[in-house]
Amino acid sequence: MARAKTVFTCNSCGYETPKWLGSCPSCQSWNSFEESVIQKESSQIHKAKLNSLSPVDKPLKLNEIQLDQSHRFNSNIPELDRVLGGGFMPGSFVLLGGDPGIGKSTLTLQIAGKNKNLSILYCSGEESAAQIAQRAKRLAINSDKLLVYTETDINLILEKATEIKPDLLIIDSIQTVYRTELSSMPGSVAQLRECSALLMRYSKQFKVTTLAVGHMNKDGEIAGPRVLEHMVDCVLMFEGEKNHAFRLLRSQKNRFGSTNEIGVFEMSESGLLDVLNPSQLFLPEYQREISGSAVVCSMEGSRPLLMEVQALVTESSFGTPQRMASGFDQKRLALLIAVLEKRAGYFIGTKDVFLNIAGGIKIQETSSDLGILCALASGLTDRVITEKTIILGEVGLGAEVRAIRGIDQRLQEAKKMGFTTAIIPKSNVFKKNISGLKVKEVETVSEALELVLY
Ligand code: TYD
Ligand code: MG
Repeated sequence: MARAKTVFTCNSCGYETPKWLGSCPSCQSWNSFEESVIQKESSQIHKAKLNSLSPVDKPLKLNEIQLDQSHRFNSNIPELDRVLGGGFMPGSFVLLGGDPGIGKSTLTLQIAGKNKNLSILYCSGEESAAQIAQRAKRLAINSDKLLVYTETDINLILEKATEIKPDLLIIDSIQTVYRTELSSMPGSVAQLRECSALLMRYSKQFKVTTLAVGHMNKDGEIAGPRVLEHMVDCVLMFEGEKNHAFRLLRSQKNRFGSTNEIGVFEMSESGLLDVLNPSQLFLPEYQREISGSAVVCSMEGSRPLLMEVQALVTESSFGTPQRMASGFDQKRLALLIAVLEKRAGYFIGTKDVFLNIAGGIKIQETSSDLGILCALASGLTDRVITEKTIILGEVGLGAEVRAIRGIDQRLQEAKKMGFTTAIIPKSNVFKKNISGLKVKEVETVSEALELVLY
């Protein structure tokens, strides 16, 4: 029989002790001990294991290894499948993170609704069975193969999962499950690490896909040790503002697909809906008559998204001017303001600057630099940017406009959304002749400003 025993290990030097210590006697670091379980196997078991070495227990030549031919299965939620890289891989461990109330539980439950033939074990430590049933009713989910288990003891969960062998095991959330052998609280670093390791082992051994929901800490990362993210196969993040209906699903890590793809959803009365044409979602209130407004195109994976950038430049009523950016990196904003002042001669000086990406989306690419600079200059001078113009390009410290990737797709998207003019970097090579779209190439920020400001 395997005996479980707990030990405390120092994070910095690996010193082990049976009792928690405040400071490490070996390396003198403070508060570095973490609890973990070690399994001791009796010598007979160890011997038996040695005698029954299956081929996978010893090093293999690369060309001897059997390729994993297991096929992905779709979640039948197109936006989720896109982010996963074409569906779930059997035996993979997926972590889904996001702020509270963003829709993690809704999404996981909707998978069950869309896949009536898939056997799913939904383990919840956050809500009662009645609450889950209530939500399922709201989402009109009616599946015979969905089993709800409100248990948080990982040993019991794994026991049931081994008995049922579902196609998909859902853990909502990883912070609520615990192992009784550890004395620390559920959600602690030791518990998270231990439970994830057990789930991972189960997943791989029985080829069951595991989807675990993870809470976020206040820095916007999945709460718990970083090792959690290293361990799992795929990390998905749900983003969005609570007061906006749309949600973005981003993949931060994916062992079976690209990490660039995003999924776009809209939270509705009846759950999350796929948004197949996101640009339409982010541009509805775009009006050209307002100064400080520009349209840029950010490339999220293989998908171009048009977004409106709004800049408000006003007299400051305090001594220190405010520089606020929402949906954009504050430091990059400071850099762009410096370029605008020093290289293009637009002095913002002590004025307050507020920059907003309409719709609450976050821009993570530099391709919108030029658009943002134009919005800032427009906000400062109160001159409106010409109608139906999309502005693309990265800006360097010398105010030179640099080439960006995926220019053709971005131009196609602009055309599709009814734009008639595009300002692009001169160094970009693009397929000519997109009918109905006038493409103007620029080398510097000043050139672009001359073209777009009325
Ligand atoms: P939930 O999935 O419980 O969030 P999480 O598990 O990430 O904490 O989502 C809860 C929010 O979603 C809640 O504010 C209500 C809203 N919601 C809808 O707007 N429509 C729906 O159909 C459902 C089920 C929830
Ligand atoms: Mg939840």
